[in-house]
Amino acid sequence: MAEPLATEPKSVHTTAPHVEVRGLSIRFPVGRSGFWGGTTRYVHAVDEVSFSIGRGETLGLVGESGSGKTTIGRAVLRRIEPSAGTISFRGDDITTTKGKQLRELRRHMQLVFQDPYASLNPRKTVLELVAEPLIVHGLALNPKDAREQVADLLHRCGLPADTVDRYPHAFSGGQRQRIGIARALALRPEFIVADEPVSALDVSVRAQVVNLLQDLQQELALTYLFIAHDLSVVRHISHRIAILYAGRMVEIAPTHAVYDNPMHPYTEALLSSVPIPDPPLQRERRRIVLTGEIPNPVDPPPGCRFQTRCPLVHDRCHGETPKLEEKQPDHLVACFAR
Ligand SMILES: Nc1ncnc2c1ncn2[C@@H]1O[C@H](COP(=O)(O)OP(=O)(O)OP(=O)(O)O)[C@@H](O)[C@H]1O
Ligand SMILES: [Mg+2]
Repeated sequence: MAEPLATEPKSVHTTAPHVEVRGLSIRFPVGRSGFWGGTTRYVHAVDEVSFSIGRGETLGLVGESGSGKTTIGRAVLRRIEPSAGTISFRGDDITTTKGKQLRELRRHMQLVFQDPYASLNPRKTVLELVAEPLIVHGLALNPKDAREQVADLLHRCGLPADTVDRYPHAFSGGQRQRIGIARALALRPEFIVADEPVSALDVSVRAQVVNLLQDLQQELALTYLFIAHDLSVVRHISHRIAILYAGRMVEIAPTHAVYDNPMHPYTEALLSSVPIPDPPLQRERRRIVLTGEIPNPVDPPPGCRFQTRCPLVHDRCHGETPKLEEKQPDHLVACFAR
């Protein structure tokens, strides 16, 4: 990834939310306790998560592996059923939308996958891959029209015209991700969940793909939930950033506030591992290395989930779960010590 820009995109979060999630919890059953049965045990993958995203805005969702990012992304797209909570899109509650209405809704909400190698069928040409959603949804009049639409999408995504008749293996990781983005855009969606879209790519091409997503957002007025596992990738593209720890949201704020004034001790630790392009500043900065166990997501203990690794832990954190509260304007934090 190239150096992050010194300034972040300005917030455009002025109108009613485009996407809104309230009290989202997702549990997965993972068998029963005891050999002869007993009670079903659950992975508490996501616990009471709430956020909203304005039209044309990017919310960066950051957390370490297993923190529940993909689960949230898939739930928002209605690909996983929530255990509790509501999901709204364009002001409508879509939590229980089904059948034809759900299929119609899905057109407007697309996913860009992490791994451009695994997500594209190697036996299909780029034309077939990108045209597929157009054909399934009846948005191509005839083969010529499909080909023209695909050529236009590929062009928008910075790919040469001769891309159409080739197979995915003929492309580099960055180009494949561009094909994946073109496919996600085929149905002209309004909202995109980009699930670690650059994590599998060479560092040298990450910034190009992030820039492409940013340009497309401007051109097509897209709303993004942009998932990443560290803070170095999201700064450039996010208007606001949400930090997730073990299935719970611990901080959400405008991007500049997260970088200039992180308030949750976990955010501070995450930020301390982001390289600063200025060597003297980098030397001066204290790297916070977290020790302690990550809580087991199967029936996690009560209290704050960060208690086992937190430098600020005190008695209250063991029995009570801190709620996300507005500690500064537009800056919400879930911590008793802040
Ligand atoms: N279908 C499933 N059944 C059981 N447990 C699951 C399932 N899907 C996810 N989990 C568990 O839910 C938790 C959150 O997983 P998730 O994939 O959302 O994390 P993530 O933040 O996307 O991680 P990564 O950065 O590795 O992609 C993990 O503990 C995971 O093992
Ligand atoms: Mg994931």
